Amino acid sequence: MTATAIRPYRPSDHRAGRQLWVELAEQHRELYDDPTFGGADPGAGFEEYLTRLDLSGVWVAEQPDAGVVGLIGLIMDGRVGRVEPVVVTARLRGQGIGRALLDEVANQARRRDLARLTVMPQSRNVNALRCLRGAGYDVLSAVELTVELRSSPGTREGSIELHGQQFHT
Ligand SMILES: CC(C)(COP(=O)(O)OP(=O)(O)OC[C@H]1O[C@@H](n2cnc3c(N)ncnc32)[C@H](O)[C@@H]1OP(=O)(O)O)[C@@H](O)C(=O)NCCC(=O)NCCS
Repeated sequence: MTATAIRPYRPSDHRAGRQLWVELAEQHRELYDDPTFGGADPGAGFEEYLTRLDLSGVWVAEQPDAGVVGLIGLIMDGRVGRVEPVVVTARLRGQGIGRALLDEVANQARRRDLARLTVMPQSRNVNALRCLRGAGYDVLSAVELTVELRSSPGTREGSIELHGQQFHT
């Protein structure tokens, strides 16, 4: 793997950060077959994100030739830290960059004396679940349930059993 450095976000990373934000929206669009998710300018959410008062830090993964290829943010919720978001550019996924970003945030959280870290992947995001579990996120601490109010055929993908009950992902 090409050498990847993890370092704090700088204002000059703005363009790359915005592009990674677009990739987050693309991931959602693909998973839920919803081409409109994120609106016409999905990168705009990144600017809003950077103004959040509960944002404790943002780090990027950088490679000598490719520049910034991944980003992770740490949101503070009392003594609990929330990873939001973690994203690696699509062509470089599955090479350990996500894991390196998650390890950095875990170190940062320990420095801030946080009690735990949480993250909320979409239930059908298998790659994210695999990466997160490998990084130590192995406690299912909360579940968000949805009821579809409009008939939306094709949005159900798999199913999962929890306490003997079946749910769609
Ligand atoms: C989730 C995400 C950040 C993971 O980053 P990554 O750099 O691909 O992850 P890593 O390479 O560090 O993955 C570690 C593990 O997950 C597996 N994995 C992750 N993405 C994979 C992919 N696209 N294909 C195959 N395996 C993958 C790796 O094989 C590895 O497994 P192993 O430890 O058993 O070998 C990345 O897939 C991504 O940016 N997805 C889109 C945004 C997103 O869904 N964010 C998560 C929101 S919570």
